[in-house]
Amino acid sequence: MKISDILHAKEWSLIRQSTDAIQTPFLIVNLNVVRRKYEELSKNFPFAKLFYAVKANPAPEILSVLRDMGSGFDIASIYELDRLLQLGIKPEQISYSNPVKKVSDIRYAYEHGIRLFTTDSECDIRNLAEYAPGAKIICRILTEGGNAAEWSSSRKSGCHPDTAIELVLLCRELGLEPYGISFHVGSQQRDIAIWSSSLNKVTRIFEDLAEQGIQMKLINMGGGLPAKYISRVKPMRTYAHEISKYLANNFGDHLPEIMMEPGRALVAEAGVLITEVIQVSGKSSVDPDKWVYIDAGKFNGMIETIGESIEYPVYCEAEGELSQQFILAGPTCDSQDILYDDTRVPLPEWLNQGDRIYFLSAGAYTTSYCSVEFNGYPPMKTYFVQ
Ligand SMILES: Cc1ncc(COP(=O)(O)O)c(C=O)c1O
Repeated sequence: MKISDILHAKEWSLIRQSTDAIQTPFLIVNLNVVRRKYEELSKNFPFAKLFYAVKANPAPEILSVLRDMGSGFDIASIYELDRLLQLGIKPEQISYSNPVKKVSDIRYAYEHGIRLFTTDSECDIRNLAEYAPGAKIICRILTEGGNAAEWSSSRKSGCHPDTAIELVLLCRELGLEPYGISFHVGSQQRDIAIWSSSLNKVTRIFEDLAEQGIQMKLINMGGGLPAKYISRVKPMRTYAHEISKYLANNFGDHLPEIMMEPGRALVAEAGVLITEVIQVSGKSSVDPDKWVYIDAGKFNGMIETIGESIEYPVYCEAEGELSQQFILAGPTCDSQDILYDDTRVPLPEWLNQGDRIYFLSAGAYTTSYCSVEFNGYPPMKTYFVQ
């Protein structure tokens, strides 16, 4: 993977030139890349309304850029809601997509104008009926994300399609507005066919409910669109082409409203996470492996290296031929704080303390996942260029 596969020359040089004086570790985000990715997704999915998944990177600077481009927003909590409202984002542009919420969260969101909620359980629907009367409800179904998603969806959110039908009927009975069905195929989903099987399930639910007098109006296809990391993914236009085909096959000229909640695909490539080598050492004189300890690890920015799931493209200006003998680890005393061991990131053989390692495509799910002071390390700072 070359830098130019991810960032245009001007975008990269702006990042590269702006960083030498800043103390590591930190994330630097080029907001022009966020704009470029939003335009790319809008062009590829002209039939969809985009709701940025705030959890991917809730920096106000990013939210403001997306607000100005007309994006909607998918929130997971009232804390994300507060941030959006503070930025002048209208409640009509916000979808509360987390099926798990307290009564007090529902009440707060409703009082602040939120009228679109996602659910997957009877308990939540009864709370919504009481504390968000008349709200539009999207019911989330389970999908088989399989092993093709690099950060897969588990069984935590969503319900079986048959249960979804029962829940939608309950919504009607309780005075809520049955509005749509949602799914999430798992993040960084490489298998486009998962959208097909998920849309087939949605179609069956729509048909079944139509027979019972309920016309569903919306499909929320969630997230899952990929960013460019080390493992290759198909271009976005291929995803768009295939997904559009599945929609046309299932709905013909009667396409319902389509909503998508991209997180990673909008902001990952805009960010570069810059770290410094703390030390390079070995475990014994007969062991060829070298351990590189850097100042960012699983607990301050790199959590998606769990199970070596996400493989960030790496850039390093140190001297020497590229070598695969390095095991990369973070700065804390926690034994889990190893980033890559099975996956060997090629790094220059003369890598030394003080050298910088740049992790590309790191704008999503890095800073928002940082611990607040594990081993005393503060959350990672973000800087912006444009
Ligand atoms: C409900 C929901 N929508 C959208 C997303 C964003 O997914 P992605 O970053 O893969 O686009 C997530 C992420 O987990 C999510 O939970």
